[in-house]
Amino acid sequence: MKPAEALKNAYILVTGGAGYIGSHTLVELSSAGYDFVVYDNLCNSSQEALKRVSKIINKDVKFEQGDIRDKKALQNVFEKYNIDSVVHFAGLKAVGESVIKPLEYYDNNVNGTLVLLSVMKEHNCKKIVFSSSATVYNEVTTKNYIPLKEDSPTGATTNPYGRTKQFIEEILQDFYISELDFKVVTLRYFNPVGAHESGTIGEDPNGVPNNLMPFIAQTAVGKREYLSVFGGDYDTYDGTGVRDYIHVVDLANAHVKALKYISSANFNIKNATLNIGTGQGNSVLSMIKAFEKVSNKKVLYKIVKRREGDIAKCFADASLAKEVLGWQATKNIETMCKDSWKWQSNNPKGYET
Ligand code: NAD
Ligand code: UFG
Repeated sequence: MKPAEALKNAYILVTGGAGYIGSHTLVELSSAGYDFVVYDNLCNSSQEALKRVSKIINKDVKFEQGDIRDKKALQNVFEKYNIDSVVHFAGLKAVGESVIKPLEYYDNNVNGTLVLLSVMKEHNCKKIVFSSSATVYNEVTTKNYIPLKEDSPTGATTNPYGRTKQFIEEILQDFYISELDFKVVTLRYFNPVGAHESGTIGEDPNGVPNNLMPFIAQTAVGKREYLSVFGGDYDTYDGTGVRDYIHVVDLANAHVKALKYISSANFNIKNATLNIGTGQGNSVLSMIKAFEKVSNKKVLYKIVKRREGDIAKCFADASLAKEVLGWQATKNIETMCKDSWKWQSNNPKGYET
């Protein structure tokens, strides 16, 4: 039984909701009519993102600052609000950093998820949508099973970050087998890019960006001199790496569909694991070209040696998400670049004022 002071409405708990994908998902949850509460320790985000979400949706955002590893703090949130389902974004995500700090990654991502699941169990909360990654498909799989389907081999990932995603997928699978009526939707994201069309929220990486799109955007805005293109000799249509870039608003909408599905009578796969991509592969050079076109800026680049751990091609067969959730990506590369540029040019220092 919840205490009498618990809020009456059913809430979606959004862990990591102040982050890049989380903040965009809040906007889509709000327009779909969901009430939510954000739980985030702000280790890689700022409350300014939530203030801006609040402006877009014209409504206050309920926010509880805390760490998913802090059981007491999480229990308090579950006591205070009537949590119907959890959308679980919270986690550390930098591949290179995870090689240097593996224990932090296992503790934050894996242990954090265990604590979250145990508190959900205590409070009889039985629905979770989890942020996984295409990184669970290993190097051999991306060579032999392109476009990638959900039943392509996973595991043997090359870095601790990737392994945390693989382990959590397996933990969720064990948990749903053990728990009556527990429901999981695991979304394997491909390469999220872009920003909300308002240009007020977007990706705000700390320091030098690791990922392609923020690096291109910062080069176009004059913050970086040139982009290093990692490898020009891959077996791809122009020699540079090919990825499945997906607009973050399309990705956000996949979470809304996943929540609808998880609560519907149609939910007939207890543990649904779905690729969230466009199904299209685009090279680094095509992304540069598309960005230059929409921004009307030159993006200087140099082709340098391959980055260790990179693969040639990674793109989804996204047909299962369409079949199961009725979801598919709607925004093309041009829109992804246009919205990234709007965010970057309006906010050259990100959320820092
Ligand atoms: P992000 O870093 O912008 O957002 C993650 C949020 O989680 C941040 O606000 C951070 O402060 C919070 N957080 C981290 N550890 C926490 C903890 N212990 N307790 C509470 N809050 C914590 O990252 P994002 O790009 O929005 O990614 C969201 C999720 O999607 C992550 O789980 C990430 O691994 C996954 N993912 C991201 C990508 C990508 O390229 N962006 C690709 C595949 C999967
Ligand atoms: N690239 C460059 N120069 C850069 C950055 C990237 O040429 O400065 C190239 C890469 O070599 C790759 C492509 O741009 O060919 C995309 O690279 P990203 O770093 O943007 O993305 P990745 O596909 O390497 O990795 C991303 C996330 C991972 C996630 C993976 C699969 O960063 O966390 O997608 O979902 F695991």
